[in-house]
Amino acid sequence: MLNETVAKLLNAQINQEFYSAYLYLHFANFYVEQDLNGFANWYQVQAQEERDHAMLMTQYMQNNDTKVTYEAVAKPDAKLTGHIDALKAGLAHEQYVTGLIHKIYEAAYEIRDFRTMQFLDWFVKEQGEEEKNATDLIKKMKLFGSDAKGLYLLDQELAARTYVAPSLVL
Ligand code: FEO
Repeated sequence: MLNETVAKLLNAQINQEFYSAYLYLHFANFYVEQDLNGFANWYQVQAQEERDHAMLMTQYMQNNDTKVTYEAVAKPDAKLTGHIDALKAGLAHEQYVTGLIHKIYEAAYEIRDFRTMQFLDWFVKEQGEEEKNATDLIKKMKLFGSDAKGLYLLDQELAARTYVAPSLVL
């Protein structure tokens, strides 16, 4: 069984990961309304990845004989008007999630829970990748998004993203 504090934080993180999925579906909806289906696709794939994160944490807790409780998922609260708004909200959200993952890591570190630290290593790296992806999207939008042709090509690029199962196997 996992330590009580670590288990509580991991259980809360499962909810956050489902919230992330929900938030990204909210972004995808917004882009469908804007007729930017490539952006919508990008966030639909992102939402699938977030669900994977929640399920990996669920499986990790269950593998360690620790009870998982699924709580209510909050309504996505990001206000979206301009094309760049979701991208900026996405980066801010990933930075917030990175902080949460680090807090769980700290709790595991304090009690020398090496197993959980090793499990979380994948998420620490993943957060680095997600922050970079979110930052790159903002940069591209700033460079090309104000021109109709540029926006069209960017949307085409994001339409090509496909879902890839997580590299972490438990
Ligand atoms: Fe589950 Fe976007 O990190």
